Amino acid sequence: MSKAVRFKEYGGIDVLEVVDVERPVPGDDQVLVRVRAAAINPGEAHIREGHLHHLWPATFPSGEGSDLAGVVAALGSDVSGFAVGDEVIGYTDDRASHAEYVLVEREHLIHRPAAVPWSVGGSLYVAGTTAWATVRAVAAGTGDTVVVSGAAGGVGTIAVQLARLAGATVIGLASEPHHEWLSEHGVIPIAYGAGVADRIREASGGRVDAFIDTFGQGYVELALELGVRPDRIDTVADREAAARHGVKTDGNMEGASAETLAELAGLIEKGVLEVPIAREYPLDDIREAYRDLERRHTLGKIVLRPTGIE
Ligand SMILES: NC(=O)c1ccc[n+]([C@@H]2O[C@H](COP(=O)([O-])OP(=O)(O)OC[C@H]3O[C@@H](n4cnc5c(N)ncnc54)[C@H](OP(=O)(O)O)[C@@H]3O)[C@@H](O)[C@H]2O)c1
Repeated sequence: MSKAVRFKEYGGIDVLEVVDVERPVPGDDQVLVRVRAAAINPGEAHIREGHLHHLWPATFPSGEGSDLAGVVAALGSDVSGFAVGDEVIGYTDDRASHAEYVLVEREHLIHRPAAVPWSVGGSLYVAGTTAWATVRAVAAGTGDTVVVSGAAGGVGTIAVQLARLAGATVIGLASEPHHEWLSEHGVIPIAYGAGVADRIREASGGRVDAFIDTFGQGYVELALELGVRPDRIDTVADREAAARHGVKTDGNMEGASAETLAELAGLIEKGVLEVPIAREYPLDDIREAYRDLERRHTLGKIVLRPTGIE
C-alpha cells in the first residue's frame, strides 16, 4: 500500500484526505515514480471546488496533482531510456501526483539534472510551462516593455525571468514584501492597487508593449487602458475578459511537453532561471498546504514532499 490524496466530493479544503491505496503497477509504456516533490497549484483548488466541472469533470474518489519529481521505481515492458533508480522530472494528466507513487507516461518524463533541486523539479510543469507559453504568446523580445501581474506567484516569478531572458524590460506587479526579490532578478517592481496605471506609465515612460496577466480581476482591462494591443496581451486567469476583449489565453496546454520541461531545467542548470520555493509540506499536511496557497500571497511555489524532506 502507499499514500495518496483523495477527495470524494467537490468542496473546500476539508474534503481533502490522505488515504492508503494499492501501489500502482505500470502499463507497458508507463513508469512508476516514487514522488520526492510535487507542487500544488490554484487550478487544483478550482477543480476540487467544482468550478471547472463544465470543462473537466472529476470522477470520485478523485486524486489530484500534475507536477512531479522523483525516482523511477518500476518500468513497463516497452519503456526505454529510463532505468529503476533514475531521478526524473515530469507530469501526469491523470490527477495523481499528490501521492507517494505515481504512474507516468514515458514521454512525460525527463532526467533530473543534479543542479535542479527536488522541489524545483517538482514545480516546473504547471507553473513553468505556463510561464513559458505566456512569454511566447506576447512575443516578448528586445526593446519591449512587458508588464506581468501576479509577478511574485508561481507562474509570475518564472514569467518575469523568461521575459527578461528574451531581452525585454519587465515591470512586475506585486506587494511590497516581494519587491526586493523582483529587483534582484532584474524586474522593476510596482505595487498593485489604486493608482497602478499611473505608476506603470511612469515606470515605462508611457509605452507598454505587452502584458502577461497571471492574476485576473481587471488586469486585462488595465492592459487595454495602457494601450497594449490585444494580440500582445495574454491572461491565464481571466477567460471571460479574454473572450470579451479578444486577448490571448495561452497557458499550460500550449506549453505542456517534456521538451519545455527540459528547456526550463536547462536554464536552471545554467543558473539563469530560479524557481523560489516558498514552503514545503509533508503529504499528511495537504490541507495546510492548500490553506497556505489559497491566501494567494506566495513568493514562488508551495511543494508537497510525499516521501520525506531531506
Ligand atoms: N490557464 C492556465 O494554463 C493556467 C496555468 C497555471 C495557472 N493558472 C492560473 O494563473 C493564476 C496564477 O497561478 P499561480 O500558480 O502563479 O498562483 P499563485 O502562486 O497562488 O499566485 C500568488 C501571487 O498572486 C499575487 N497577488 C495577490 N493579489 C494580487 C493582486 N491583487 N494583483 C496582483 N497580484 C496579486 C501575490 O503577490 P503578492 O503576495 O505580492 O501580493 C502572489 O505572489 C491562477 O489563477 C491559476 O489558476 C492558469
